[in-house]
Amino acid sequence: MKPLLSLIGVVITIVSLVVFGFTYRQVQEQRTALLDDLERRTGLLADSLKESIRPSYLSNDTARLQNVLDKFAGRERLLGLAVFDNKGSLFATSAELPQELTSGASIPEKAMDADSNEGDFTFLSESKIYVFATPLHQDEKVIGAVTVYQRADYIDDAISQTWKRNLVRLLTQSLLFSLAVILIFRWIIYQPIIRMAEAIRQTRSGLAKGDPDVFKAHSFFSPIAAEIRKMSQSLLLARTAASEEARLRLEKIDSPWTAERLKEFFKAYLKDRKIYVVSNREPYAHKKIKNEIRAEMPASGMVTALEPVMEACGGLWLAHGSGEADRFVVDKDDKVGVPPDEPKYTLKRVWLSEQEVKGYYNGFCNEALWPLCHLAHTRPIFRQEDWTEYRKVNGKFAQSLLAEIKRVHRPLILVQDYHFALLPAMIKASRPDAEVGFFWHIPWPSAEAFSICPWRKEILEGMLGADVLAFHTQQYCNNFMETVGKEVESLADLEKFSITHKGHTSYIKPLPTSVAFTNGETKTPAPKSPLMEKLGIETKYLGIGVDRLDYTKGILERLRGIEFFFDLHPAYKRQFTFLQIAAPSREQVAKYQEFSEDVERESERINRKFESDNWRPVVLIKKLHTHEEIYPLYRSANVCMVTSLSDGMNLVAKEFIASRTDEAGVLILSQFTGASRELKEALIINPYSAEETAEAISKALSMPQAEQRRRMKKMRESVKNYNVYRWAAEFLKALASLS
Ligand code: G6P
Repeated sequence: MKPLLSLIGVVITIVSLVVFGFTYRQVQEQRTALLDDLERRTGLLADSLKESIRPSYLSNDTARLQNVLDKFAGRERLLGLAVFDNKGSLFATSAELPQELTSGASIPEKAMDADSNEGDFTFLSESKIYVFATPLHQDEKVIGAVTVYQRADYIDDAISQTWKRNLVRLLTQSLLFSLAVILIFRWIIYQPIIRMAEAIRQTRSGLAKGDPDVFKAHSFFSPIAAEIRKMSQSLLLARTAASEEARLRLEKIDSPWTAERLKEFFKAYLKDRKIYVVSNREPYAHKKIKNEIRAEMPASGMVTALEPVMEACGGLWLAHGSGEADRFVVDKDDKVGVPPDEPKYTLKRVWLSEQEVKGYYNGFCNEALWPLCHLAHTRPIFRQEDWTEYRKVNGKFAQSLLAEIKRVHRPLILVQDYHFALLPAMIKASRPDAEVGFFWHIPWPSAEAFSICPWRKEILEGMLGADVLAFHTQQYCNNFMETVGKEVESLADLEKFSITHKGHTSYIKPLPTSVAFTNGETKTPAPKSPLMEKLGIETKYLGIGVDRLDYTKGILERLRGIEFFFDLHPAYKRQFTFLQIAAPSREQVAKYQEFSEDVERESERINRKFESDNWRPVVLIKKLHTHEEIYPLYRSANVCMVTSLSDGMNLVAKEFIASRTDEAGVLILSQFTGASRELKEALIINPYSAEETAEAISKALSMPQAEQRRRMKKMRESVKNYNVYRWAAEFLKALASLS
């Protein structure tokens, strides 16, 4: 609609300019004609008046003179008449001629001095008056002057009438023109384009079965429609071939997993059963940005992993509707198709009250479970009221999910993360036929560490409702087995890695999550980063960190490592910039507010210590960035720093590797991340040691290209081989193989 409005705007502006130009000329001509007419009429009147009053003037017969003046003065638009003697003194005036007009006699005097007719405009109050004087003669001698006062307002009135008339005409024409353009646009251009776009979308998303009718368009577009129809048929053929290839690849164990292969796997092994994902964080949050509602993908490793899987498999994702504009886009069942541009699965939103968010999310999830599971030396806070809300919210999600699966036989349910530890048992209690998988995206601590939780037994029993319980690493699985052994009466089978509790068996599995990386070959050039250009970073070397502003991410330790690096290697000053992209996170929680301030303060302190000219060693940007914005930054970086103090997996590390089609760049990776178990060619560090971090930066910046390539190649192979499609397939296979 915007381009159409601009087009109408441009046309109306041009037409208006033309109309204004013409009207201006027209009124100029009109004014000249009216003035000429006024002068001519006034001159004639003055001449005939002159003849009539001369005798009485010469004979000083004032009574008769007055009589003549009054008789003439009654005419239309004539305000009055006056006679001046040759000294410029008023001799006689018609009755009712306002005195202000005759008090100065400049025009009659001018006429007498020049011995010619003189006319000019003057104002009486607001009215415009035309004053015309003609000399009176006796034997060639000027003996006085006759002055005529005409009302001249009608000239301006006529001109403004012309302006008004033309403007109204312009307005009507513009309106009719806009209406015509909109109608033509809708019927001839917009609707056929929309129909064609929908047809293309359907073909692209595999909904259309090559029906040529969907490309029916106005004859105006028929050449394009014909081409699109051909393209769509080729696409359908390609799609069929790809899906056939993916189906064949299913049999080959060593071929890489792709979205297509996962789809085929889903059809073949799960017979297209519907998947239900439950998580706290939603994959898309709708926000109001400048009067427009836009969907944003949040900074969440869980979302990064699950979203491509849902795009491939379809299904329903149940999550907390936390975006400020979320309610505006859902239907009556609180559902919306996503991704917004090309919906592939359904997002169902669950609404939480302020009190629920405070107790369940901010309190129990983020102040109790998060620090309990991450060994980052932040004390968990256990509040009874938070636990109550946590239980309540788990129950609320269970109800919402149970309503969805009411008529579904053996639904496949994938519960995500520490927000829903109680959900598996709640679902199983009502629907024992449901197959429930539970993935814990954060570390599982040692049994001793977990034992401080006052509600440990309830949490473990809730989780043991799941058929498959998965963690990123074997270590977390071991910790979990040990914790259950210590806290809950159950039977552990260390061979099958399963726990039987109250007659139900849960299988414990290490399944490292990953990213949707499928193609390791194409060497695409690094795209330009508008953000880098905006920030004006021009140093030879660039380091990058991409994290949520979370104290477990080791951002402060990273900054200290950078400080130590510049202390040890001052030659890198003005040569190396570290760009920290930090997405604000959990801002209602006090620890997070403090942490955000600490990071800012620390960056400032380091900048003050080393900055010179236009260079600052640390550029900190506290803002959520899209994957599209971050990708060129990963590609420009010489080194990516992941220095978490404790991290279930860390998908930033894998995203960085996936982005490096050039096989360059170095990853510095904390030994306390799940990712460090797989990415052995990264420079693995202990983030608590500033010396180790500094040395790793120095090693990364001076690493020969060949070595960078060797390491990156291996890491890319590993991420490609165990990408998120494989993760999902293994998770679903583990779940489905139980029945
Ligand atoms: C971790 C958790 C996710 C969570 C993410 C972001 O990765 O495992 O479940 O979504 O942090 O945290 P948030 O509280 O913003 O969802």
